[in-house]
Amino acid sequence: NNHLVIMAGGVGSRFWPMSSTQMPKQFIDVLGCGRTLIQLTVDRFKDICPPENVWVVTSAAYADIVEEQLPEIAKDHVLLEPCRRNTAPCIAYVSWKIKAKNPKANIVVTPSDHIVIDGREFTRVVTSAMKFTADSDAIVTLGMKATRPETGYGYIEADLSMACPSNKEIYRVDAFKEKPDLETAERYLRRNNYFWNAGIFVWNVNTIVNAIRVYQPPMAKIFERLLPYYYTDKEQELIDEAFPACENISIDYAVMEKADEIYVFPASFGWSDLGTWGSLHENLKKDAHNNVCIGQNIKVYESRNCVIHTTQEKKVVVQGLDEYIVAEKNDMLLICRLSEEQRIREFSED
Ligand code: GDD
Ligand code: MG
Repeated sequence: NNHLVIMAGGVGSRFWPMSSTQMPKQFIDVLGCGRTLIQLTVDRFKDICPPENVWVVTSAAYADIVEEQLPEIAKDHVLLEPCRRNTAPCIAYVSWKIKAKNPKANIVVTPSDHIVIDGREFTRVVTSAMKFTADSDAIVTLGMKATRPETGYGYIEADLSMACPSNKEIYRVDAFKEKPDLETAERYLRRNNYFWNAGIFVWNVNTIVNAIRVYQPPMAKIFERLLPYYYTDKEQELIDEAFPACENISIDYAVMEKADEIYVFPASFGWSDLGTWGSLHENLKKDAHNNVCIGQNIKVYESRNCVIHTTQEKKVVVQGLDEYIVAEKNDMLLICRLSEEQRIREFSED
């Protein structure tokens, strides 16, 4: 009864020009391994959920891309949002739909654009967490050891004094803080009971539906009203009408910061939210001078600490650069200091 929900409606604008609104990073072979990030995500769960229980929630604009990249997923398991409203409405929609047919479903929700190094440990951790939520009304997060004061993540404050009796690797959460400012993140980093939220959530369908009812009543009403229409010909039309009225809010602010029954499973399986060029540099294989090169025909001379990404068979030569991003795609070329990468979103919009 395990279900997998893949959230795939994000844009990934800090990865421009590789990632763009037309073709966000989850649909790109970022690692140059022959599989796109969303395909790797499906692969990662193959021993956790049966293929017929996989759901993808994305923008209607990406329907064709999903169909092309994940032909094994049935059409009525690909949920299409008419507009972007962040992850809370995404999770609400799929949860109400799953509940309509399967009120006892147990669910793991995952982003579509992360990398995990140790697949076996990942499978063990998620399977164990799903056993826990199968018969307890808990929201389980996966906690990653924080190694820098990252302000792009959510932080989980765990009560490490006592593990749960039914699963000794799971702890109660005292507080959840989404994307703190730098000062707060630095304070958290000095303590040993704060973890990064991996953005992967495990719960049974009743737990999440009830949490949305309690903390986001207007959103709950929107999806509750559509109950008779899920899996019918009218579903898409009614979703297209109703969905825009949802508040634009992530699940982290909408539920996680407010809910009481939150637990954390501290885990280490080599994880990264491939959010920026820098994270790609950190996670991929480097040459002798600490450069990461992804592409067919890249030549590097007297350069170090660079990340270089090409998408075509264009010959790219880089000489004399230190700590730079060089990335090209179609008619776009980016040359930017790695330390300035947070500005790429703004550059891409200019
Ligand atoms: N369907 C759908 N619709 N998916 C969406 C939408 C949407 O409107 N917006 C984002 N997503 C997808 C993204 O494609 C991504 O796979 C996932 O949801 C998470 O969204 P991000 O936008 O990448 O979130 P984040 O990285 O800023 O923050 C979240 O993840 C961090 C870890 O990577 C939070 O959960 C943080 O607390 C967490 O630390
Ligand atoms: Mg992310």
